[in-house]
Amino acid sequence: MKIYRAKDYDHMSQIAANILAAQIVLKPDSCLGLATGGSPVGTYKKLIEKHKNGDLDFGKVVTINLDEYCGLSKDNDQSYDYYMREYLFNHVNINFGNVNIPNGLEPDAAKECKLYDEIIAKNPIDVQLLGIGTNGHIGFNEPSAEFKFASHHAQLAEATIEANKRYFDSEEKVPKTAYTMGIGQIMLSKKIVLIASGESKADIMYKALHGPIMPQLPASVLQMHRDVTVIGDEAALKHIKQ
Ligand code: F6R
Repeated sequence: MKIYRAKDYDHMSQIAANILAAQIVLKPDSCLGLATGGSPVGTYKKLIEKHKNGDLDFGKVVTINLDEYCGLSKDNDQSYDYYMREYLFNHVNINFGNVNIPNGLEPDAAKECKLYDEIIAKNPIDVQLLGIGTNGHIGFNEPSAEFKFASHHAQLAEATIEANKRYFDSEEKVPKTAYTMGIGQIMLSKKIVLIASGESKADIMYKALHGPIMPQLPASVLQMHRDVTVIGDEAALKHIKQ
């Protein structure tokens, strides 16, 4: 595991964007696993800059997002589909036919998860970008009694609803479930880039990287992956002396 200590959020974003950009330059038809939330916004901004400078061509890139809230349409400004268009896709030359995000409006969970499993199986992920929840979730793989391999319909943990309510008018409006890629599928990515910023991530980053590997702390499984790059700012990595 490589650990980069970034000065701050902007620096973290720059390093993460450099890695994703290098991947696209070396393999223009790369499949990128993408995350949403606060952590990757800066990374996407840097990628847009590289594209606008003429340095990055998304024309052949395939993307697979980690997750989507259930019950939100693509036009809902809190859906992850909307987020991806707002923060990345609308500003680069991505082919929207190559974009994959679960359909949060599909009521048949088994059907949606099977479809997503097929998409992931057909498009091996070259680099997976991850954020981490304060409870150690990755994607919406919440703490549980077992690591779930495949896509599934996840019940969001109280801590996740609490953390994500900042984006909604009220806590009641935060969706309670989501479709998410599974831990096994994340672990099959050839390379993983985990970004974390801010004091609120310091404890969980220490436990995830140095504590026991257990499904009660999903991100701890990353200790078993052979190509993980962690990029954190000083605050997020303050307990990690390395
Ligand atoms: C989002 C996702 C989540 C977030 C995590 C951290 O697609 O998969 O696991 O990465 O909740 O969120 P932020 O970055 O908002 O702290």
